[in-house]
Amino acid sequence: MSGPRAGSRIEIVLVAAVADNGVIGRGGALPWRLKSDMLRLRALTWGKPIVVGRTTYLSFTKQPLPGRTNIVVSRNQNFAASGALVAASLAAALEAARGDALRRAADAIIVLGGADIYAQTMAIADRLVITRVHLEPDGDAKFPAIDPEIWRETQRSEHRAGPDDEASFTALTYERRAALDRQADGGH
Ligand SMILES: NC(=O)c1ccc[n+]([C@@H]2O[C@H](COP(=O)([O-])OP(=O)(O)OC[C@H]3O[C@@H](n4cnc5c(N)ncnc54)[C@H](OP(=O)(O)O)[C@@H]3O)[C@@H](O)[C@H]2O)c1
Repeated sequence: MSGPRAGSRIEIVLVAAVADNGVIGRGGALPWRLKSDMLRLRALTWGKPIVVGRTTYLSFTKQPLPGRTNIVVSRNQNFAASGALVAASLAAALEAARGDALRRAADAIIVLGGADIYAQTMAIADRLVITRVHLEPDGDAKFPAIDPEIWRETQRSEHRAGPDDEASFTALTYERRAALDRQADGGH
């Protein structure tokens, strides 16, 4: 993918797999196995800085995701994550991610959860890339509601369950209505 054009913004993109009932996690892990989505996630995020909460980071079998600068948010000053940057606040994490994106000529900062981090970044996100997983699992972590007054669906594709997938899923992209309206007005 090409890097950001001079003067163009680095987008904040929330990437999440969300069940039909809004659940994204259970007991610190994903409540499903969906290999196709893991591969999609890898392609979507490769070469970009990713921002995650401590709980989500620990769910990555304690290793950073390769090929991406992993920035972990934790208020615990003693928390150390080998091979990842640790930030004491979300603002510090996003600032570090922006610097990394500029160095890598990446066009986006990826916010990869979990529920706590999504809830705090929804208001500043430019784009949501959602895998709608067609299951209704029990869980203790949920994605925030996607308000149709604020977000417009701009891409959708349907995917059948592959051999290593527990469910079929729909890949969705949402963009802010306000930003789309500004573009339609020619930026005026
Ligand atoms: N389906 C998906 O796409 C997806 C994606 C990601 C995660 N998940 C799931 O979501 C669940 C985890 O979500 P979660 O809400 O429990 O945890 P989380 O958002 O991953 O992490 C929460 C932790 O992040 C730190 N934190 C949060 N806000 C902060 C801030 N403003 N400043 C500094 N540190 C901050 C705190 O760490 P300290 O306690 O260390 O201070 C907090 O306990 C897991 O089940 C995971 O598998 C699902």
